[in-house]
Amino acid sequence: MPDTKQIRITECGPRDGLQNEATILSVDQKVALIDLLSASGVAEIEVSSFVSPTWVPQLADAEQVFARISRRDSVVYSALVPNEEGMRRAMDAKIDKIAIFTAASETFSRKNTNATIAQTLRRFEPVVAQAKDVDLPVRAYISCVVTCPYEGPIDPRQVRDVASQLLDLGVDEIDLGETIGVAVPTDIDRLYEGLAGLLEPGQTTLHLHDTRGTALACALRALQLGVTSFDSSCGGLGGCPYAPNAAGNLATEDLVYLCNRMGYETSVDLAALFAASRHIAAALGRSLPGRVFTADGSAPP
Ligand code: HMG
Ligand code: MG
Repeated sequence: MPDTKQIRITECGPRDGLQNEATILSVDQKVALIDLLSASGVAEIEVSSFVSPTWVPQLADAEQVFARISRRDSVVYSALVPNEEGMRRAMDAKIDKIAIFTAASETFSRKNTNATIAQTLRRFEPVVAQAKDVDLPVRAYISCVVTCPYEGPIDPRQVRDVASQLLDLGVDEIDLGETIGVAVPTDIDRLYEGLAGLLEPGQTTLHLHDTRGTALACALRALQLGVTSFDSSCGGLGGCPYAPNAAGNLATEDLVYLCNRMGYETSVDLAALFAASRHIAAALGRSLPGRVFTADGSAPP
């Protein structure tokens, strides 16, 4: 176990979860979800995306959601920003941190953002410069770090190459997206071996999807390698509209349960997370896949 036992959790349900739902929730339902999550003790909440409303209509109300949530000083409220137009909107909404996003796969990059990897990086230059001017932290996602839904397996050297270019731009955090949930622990070993000398595991965030039930095994491997920052979604909400068959993120409750029982600190209260997951399951009118939520939290309190 690494020296540091404090694990940082970014809750992605309001963004990665809701972007993939056929039902478009109301602003009230989203605000209630985020306020419940704020009370759970997570370090960061990805509230929404300032992307094109044509591409992701589910999150077209990002401004209204940001205007109405009750912010706590202990929580960072972030959102996805794809370009300068998104940056203008994000600044107007007074967000705490931006998340730019690209991929280690050319085909995924085009399908997700209508741009090559190189074009996304050029788009980010003015966005990151502006963020630096106003001291806004920048997270940078790299999708398809293990496999692309269109191209198949991805060489870890491609991940390293994109990470290196993002670091040159001056981003503060590299977030490794296992977009379609195929990885097993040996893939996590290979991913971090590929980054050796550029980024230590403890300098990255890992964003796992649980399509095949292997996300928690990968999180455990990452914890053992020294990763201390993870993304997850309450109840296992999640997906990506441009990654066919990608299911939800690693469930926040499953990650917290594992960490707590193994002696890692998350500062997250499971009962408060259950309340958030129950709210969103009722709003969507369906059950959620998270195992710990299903076992202990899905029944009304
Ligand atoms: P485009 O169509 O090439 O954009 O989309 P454009 O620059 O040609 O502009 C076309 C129209 O969109 C214009 O409006 C722009 O104003 C408008 P018109 O003149 O036609 O009326 N527009 C915008 N409107 C609002 N906000 C904006 C914005 N930008 C342009 N920011 C673009 C390019 C990047 C915008 C588009 O492809 C896009 O929004 N893509 C986002 C897709 C997305 O959100 N995918 C899911 C998130 S990524 C993910 O889930 C993976 C992750 O979880 C990690 C993992 O799991 O791997 C992060
Ligand atoms: Mg994702």
